[in-house]
Amino acid sequence: MDDQNTIRFILDGELVEVRDIEPTRTLLQYLREDLLRIGSKEGCAEGDCGACTVVIGAAVNNRLQFRAVNACIQFLPTLDGKILFTVESLKSANNSLHPVQQSMVDYHGSQCGFCTPGFIMSMFALYKTEASIDRAVIDDALSGNLCRCTGYRSIIEAALKMNDYPVSADSDPVLYAPASNNADLASAQEQDMIERLNALQRKQGLELKWGDSLYFAPAGIEELAEFYAQNPDACILSGGTDVGIWVTKQLRELPVVIYLGNVAGLNQITKNESAIEIGAAVSLTDAFNALSQEFPEFDEMFRRFASVPVRNAGTLVGNVANGSPIGDSMPALISVGARVKLRKGPKTRELAMQDLYLDYMKNAMETGEFVESVIVPRRDESLQIRCYKLCKRFDQDISAVCAAFALRLKDDRIDDINITFGGMAAIPKRATNTENLLKGKVWDEDTLAVAMETLKLEFSPLSDMRASAAYRQQTASNLLYRFYLETRPQGALQPEAVNVFAVQA
Ligand SMILES: Cc1cc2nc3c(=O)[nH]c(=O)nc-3n(C[C@H](O)[C@H](O)[C@H](O)COP(=O)(O)OP(=O)(O)OC[C@H]3O[C@@H](n4cnc5c(N)ncnc54)[C@H](O)[C@@H]3O)c2cc1C
Ligand code: FES
Ligand code: FES
Repeated sequence: MDDQNTIRFILDGELVEVRDIEPTRTLLQYLREDLLRIGSKEGCAEGDCGACTVVIGAAVNNRLQFRAVNACIQFLPTLDGKILFTVESLKSANNSLHPVQQSMVDYHGSQCGFCTPGFIMSMFALYKTEASIDRAVIDDALSGNLCRCTGYRSIIEAALKMNDYPVSADSDPVLYAPASNNADLASAQEQDMIERLNALQRKQGLELKWGDSLYFAPAGIEELAEFYAQNPDACILSGGTDVGIWVTKQLRELPVVIYLGNVAGLNQITKNESAIEIGAAVSLTDAFNALSQEFPEFDEMFRRFASVPVRNAGTLVGNVANGSPIGDSMPALISVGARVKLRKGPKTRELAMQDLYLDYMKNAMETGEFVESVIVPRRDESLQIRCYKLCKRFDQDISAVCAAFALRLKDDRIDDINITFGGMAAIPKRATNTENLLKGKVWDEDTLAVAMETLKLEFSPLSDMRASAAYRQQTASNLLYRFYLETRPQGALQPEAVNVFAVQA
């Protein structure tokens, strides 16, 4: 029978059981302060620097999946039923170094030492998941690891070479076998680990009480819906990449937390001929992989959304439900007509995503209602689609402006257009005046010039540390111009011709 009060996970092959712990204790605090495993470091405590990176293992489709996450914003109870790998886990019985570590030594990638464990763990996740490693893959894998001292050249070199190291036959393949293109091959040790993980999965939810605090991780959607309808003040926790920071930076108390990550069915992506439905517990990584097949035009935004560890932990529905005016997924999703499925107790309803947002961080959800899934229509081949993200850095930066466009031309005229912005208003918002002006017009320079002026007047954005209001107005209008250049009926330019980052593609 499940022990509903005990967090259980596997670390270095051993079952760890934890009771009587504050539910919002972060994994990093637990590692450093309780276990004295101080290899993982704290740099920022907000998911930005990667010094705390660890790898979480889970059984997915009968294979072990290895994903880097930021321990500093992951609450310990979310580890229930998983495997944890920290930098200490890579130590072998005979004290030889893991290929990832040896490569870092040989190519002088260990620089200040403070960030090195985090780099090692991001590289370890890459080693275990990617059979064909090249520069682009490495850049992405290390997008969540900051080096403030020397630079990335030697670290990238080490990552490029880590697969060249021979692995001895007696080493544990769970740790040491690199990713293989042969997806069917699971070693006996991996199968054993999967069985142990399967045995840890719960039929009933995990329920931790600590003082007056309660953490509930239901196993089924009915339990979740009933609990939340009765406890509407509970904090819904999904990937925790927003909620974690409320605790580590704003020192907020969360007396009742309800965790979605273990709810059967919420971790699914389903496709039919009309739509792709993405459940509330699906990670950004998995959601973007699925959406990328349908809408490759969104790939750059997906790639530039936070970093690999944040995308591994965070969910698409969390981004949508949080409803930040600078959230990146909503403009793209709204532009292609996405809907949200809301649930309260046994009742569900659907809403166009744009109607979810009422005002700054205010939404149309009723008390006790939550987002069960996001429903994205299948690709309409008649649409030309783009999404552009403007921010100061390529990787791991919050947008100043994010714009998404979907256009249908009939001959040279605009039959339909959807223009949605993030960063321009208190909510993700469509430029309806500009859309209305454009509909039915010939898609040419004259129409564009009027539309750019209309767009400048349509929003009154804020000035803040990311950008001034004037910058936002100007660049929003410029992005419409860029979209025109890529979609004009005559002489449309390829995306690479107008993309300042094209060299990175
Ligand atoms: C370093 C860093 C970089 C980031 N970069 C970006 C970026 O580039 N672009 C961007 O858009 N975001 C970015 N984010 C923000 C964050 O990653 C996203 O908003 C993420 O998608 C949130 O998902 P989550 O599962 O982690 O949500 P959580 O933190 O678990 O929850 C977020 C909010 O939504 C609520 N919630 C969650 N699920 C539901 C549900 N099903 N129903 C109702 N309410 C729900 C929670 O109660 C909470 O209020 C970044 C965050 C970090 C830490
Ligand atoms: S300590 Fe900086 S990402 Fe965790
Ligand atoms: S490796 Fe730590 S700052 Fe450069």
